[in-house]
Amino acid sequence: MFKASIFRRTGLLGALPFVASIAFSSGANAADDDVAKVGEQRFMDFCAVCHGADAKGGGPFAPMLNKTPTDLTMLAKANDGEFPFNQVYDMIDGRSMPGAHGTKDMPIWGGEWKRMDAIGAETALRGRILEIIIYLRSIQQ
Ligand code: HEC
Repeated sequence: MFKASIFRRTGLLGALPFVASIAFSSGANAADDDVAKVGEQRFMDFCAVCHGADAKGGGPFAPMLNKTPTDLTMLAKANDGEFPFNQVYDMIDGRSMPGAHGTKDMPIWGGEWKRMDAIGAETALRGRILEIIIYLRSIQQ
């Protein structure tokens, strides 16, 4: 993780979501692939129960929800072909979204994951969210 260590050393972590969104526009690379694998595992642990192992929205928990979990392989298509990085970030973090998307069917992870990492919590949280986002970006159709 060459890029991440640079951010840590230079204290640029606060800008990570912004910088990562720029990195996205240059397309996938080997580092992205590594991160996507970690993100896939996290996705299976935290998200697949509702969104399905294939991310298309048919997880085992889906029938119990008021709203259908979004097909996460179609995020780019639904946004004029561009992966909506910042929206997805905010949706997963959730802390900046008042009312938690109206229904509260989509859990928010910002508070929960931050509690799991006592030291450098905000940094670790950004890493977790970014890993999943990079995975989701890699499975867009
Ligand atoms: C308890 C079930 C549940 C879990 C677990 C869950 N989601 Fe969701 N998610 C939903 C539902 C339901 C929606 C649709 C919400 C709506 O339409 O208001 C949604 C919507 C979303 C969206 C919004 C897509 C859009 O339309 O902009 C994203 C992104 C997303 N989820 C990502 C994730 C990720 C990543 C995880 C794991 C960290 C996760 N979700 C875990 C139920 C869940």
